[in-house]
Amino acid sequence: MTALLEVEDLHVEFRTRDGVARVLNGVGYHVDAGETLAVLGESGSGKSVTAQTVMGILDTPPAYVMRGAVRFHGEDLLSATAERRREVRGEGIAMIFQDALSALNPVFTVGFQIEEQLRLRRGMSRSEARKRAVELLDLVRIPHARQRVREYPHQFSGGMRQRAMIAMSLALDPEVLIADEPTTALDVTVQAQIMDLLAEIQRERHMGLVLITHDLGVVAEVADRIVVMYAGRIVEQADAVSLFRSPGHPYTEALMKSLPRLDAKGTTLDTIKGLPPSLLRIPPGCPFHPRCPRAEAVCSVDVPPQERLGFGRTSACHFAEEVLNG
Ligand SMILES: Nc1ncnc2c1ncn2[C@@H]1O[C@H](COP(=O)(O)OP(=O)(O)OP(=O)(O)O)[C@@H](O)[C@H]1O
Ligand code: SF4
Ligand SMILES: [Mg+2]
Repeated sequence: MTALLEVEDLHVEFRTRDGVARVLNGVGYHVDAGETLAVLGESGSGKSVTAQTVMGILDTPPAYVMRGAVRFHGEDLLSATAERRREVRGEGIAMIFQDALSALNPVFTVGFQIEEQLRLRRGMSRSEARKRAVELLDLVRIPHARQRVREYPHQFSGGMRQRAMIAMSLALDPEVLIADEPTTALDVTVQAQIMDLLAEIQRERHMGLVLITHDLGVVAEVADRIVVMYAGRIVEQADAVSLFRSPGHPYTEALMKSLPRLDAKGTTLDTIKGLPPSLLRIPPGCPFHPRCPRAEAVCSVDVPPQERLGFGRTSACHFAEEVLNG
C-alpha cells in the first residue's frame, strides 16, 4: 500500500566553511492518514532538516540532497518541478514552525496572513477569505476571533501566536501536518492545551501528523508510532506502545532511563551522558558507540544494519535482539 508521506534513504549534506557536515545519512519514515508519527532525538540529530527537505525549503547552497526520495501519495517530490512543489506545500503538506513569532510577518495582521493564502491559492474574495480566517481562528479557540483577526502578531501572547500558526497551517486543508516542536517556547500549561488541540484537530481531519519533539511525555500521550533519530539516522522505529514497553536500541534505552516519569511533561532528552558527534566527523561503525554502554569491538568498525524486530519494528544495532530482550 502506498503511504501518504514517505521519506526514503535521505542523505543531505551541508557544505560549510569548516567542511562537509553529513547531516542526514539515510533517513526513512512514513506516515499514513489519521496517524501520528513522533520524531524523537537530541538537538542536532536532523529532525528539522528532514522536515525542511520534505517541505522543499532547504537552501542550496549550503544544503545538498545527495540521495533518497520524498514521496507524497507515491509521487517523488524531490524530482518534481518547483511549481508542483509549491502546490503540494500548504495543500498537501503543511508545517508549523517552532518559533511562531519569527514565522509570522510582524507588519501584517494575523487575518491578512491567513486570508492571503486563501485568496491566492483558493481564489476566494476578500470577504470570503475573511469569513474563513475567522472560522479558522475559532477552530483553534482564539477568543473573540472576529476582532482578533484584525490584530498584529505582537498583540498576541505566545500561546495565541502558536494557535494562529496552527490556523494558518490548516487554511488549505493539508493532508499531512508537520509540527516541529510546536510548543517549546510556551509554558507548560499552554503546551498541554496546544498539544490537546493539535491531537483533536488531527483526529477530526484524519490528517497524518509528524510531531517533532523533545518531550517524551507528549510522545507517550499522542504518538501511534515513533522514530528515534541519532546523528542523521533513524536508529529505531516502532509502534509507541512496544517502544515504551521495551526499547530495541541502546540509544532509546538511554532516553528512557533519562526520564524520571513517562507522564512528566516538559522532560527533555538532553540528559544522556556525553555529546552527540560532530557531523563533520561522524565516528566509524555505529555513530553511537562512543556513548554506548553496550558497545563491543565490532561497534567501532561495522555500521549496524537496520535489524527487523517484527511488527514493523527496526533497530540499527548489532545487538538489537539482546537489547529488546533486556
Ligand atoms: N544552514 C545550515 N548550515 C550548516 N549546518 C546546518 C544548517 N542547518 C542545520 N545544520 C546542521 O544540521 C544538523 C541537524 O540540524 P537540525 O536542525 O535538523 O537538528 P534538530 O534535530 O532539529 O535539533 P533541535 O532539536 O535542536 O531542533 C545540526 O548539526 C545543524 O547544525
Ligand atoms: S551497535 Fe554497538 S555501539 Fe551501536 S548501539 Fe548497538 S551496541 Fe551500542
Ligand atoms: Mg529542530
